[in-house]
Amino acid sequence: MKLGPNDRCWCGSGRKYKHCHRLRDEAVKPGVLGPERAVPEEIERPPYVTNGGEPMDRGEPIVKAPEVITAMHKAGLAAGEVLDLVGAAVAPGVTTDELDAVAHAAYVERCGYPSPLGYRGFPKSVCTSVNEVICHGIPDDRALREGDIVNVDVTIYLGGVHGDTNATFAVGEIDERSALLMRVTRECLYRGIDAVRPGAEVRAIGRAIQDHAEGNGFGVVRTFCGHAIGHEFHGGLSIPHYDDPRATLRLEPGMTFTIEPMITMGSWRERIWSDGWTAVTADGLRTAQYEHTVVVTDDGAEVLTPSVTLPATLATSPSR
Ligand code: MF3
Ligand code: CO
Ligand code: CO
Repeated sequence: MKLGPNDRCWCGSGRKYKHCHRLRDEAVKPGVLGPERAVPEEIERPPYVTNGGEPMDRGEPIVKAPEVITAMHKAGLAAGEVLDLVGAAVAPGVTTDELDAVAHAAYVERCGYPSPLGYRGFPKSVCTSVNEVICHGIPDDRALREGDIVNVDVTIYLGGVHGDTNATFAVGEIDERSALLMRVTRECLYRGIDAVRPGAEVRAIGRAIQDHAEGNGFGVVRTFCGHAIGHEFHGGLSIPHYDDPRATLRLEPGMTFTIEPMITMGSWRERIWSDGWTAVTADGLRTAQYEHTVVVTDDGAEVLTPSVTLPATLATSPSR
């Protein structure tokens, strides 16, 4: 028999289930990994894959040459297509490894390499982060359940550059608070993008995001940030999603980086599972994330990873 949130807890404490063991009972647990997926030999690998997973090509300029930006437009569009295809596969009963399979096939169909696969030992082609998992969840045999929320983070290596985008999807019907978290987090991404303009400090992006998240009673994850991207998956620039006074670098046209706010219902602190990857909220409450790769233009930002899931601009008007 399944306990309702307001039933007495099974442990005999006399407290309501939702105030007692529910979070622990419903926590995401590590599952079993499937076999490694193969990538056809003719598909170009990023340099770290042939270097035991360790990035070696450090020191790429943050401001990119026009031909690099052109390549990033192509990689970005392909990443968006993969995200749309995986998102369409999200449903109750589908395992996160089945989402990985959909993504893997979609990368390869586009002649792209799945950037996560073999990056610092990551074993799969996307990250799948369910409920309280902040980021870097490893696809496994856990079946999605009605009411879950799942983030799928897609990165493709195509034409010598990476395109990085992610979104959080509802599994069937979700509760109102999870829906609000998802809406506000999506708005945070677009507010961050709107803060991008030449001459502004990097911290303006995080300030816009933090204001909106905290204004809605949510938290902002500090440990994981946006990053420079191009030939390198994670270049030498960090984009905090909170107002970090140290982020004083001024934006210039041609800079490429990701904005990928992780917003929490409760604590913004994380714990890392013993797999060394999976980051979960310290209090077990839910978290959501959305990500775009962008380039700074003469008067703002251009989104390099537009998709049906996550268009270049936010279609609906933010509520605050
Ligand atoms: N795509 C993630 C990001 O947005 C990085 C994933 S690294 C992996 O930066 F190894 F976990 F895939
Ligand atoms: Co990223
Ligand atoms: Co990503």
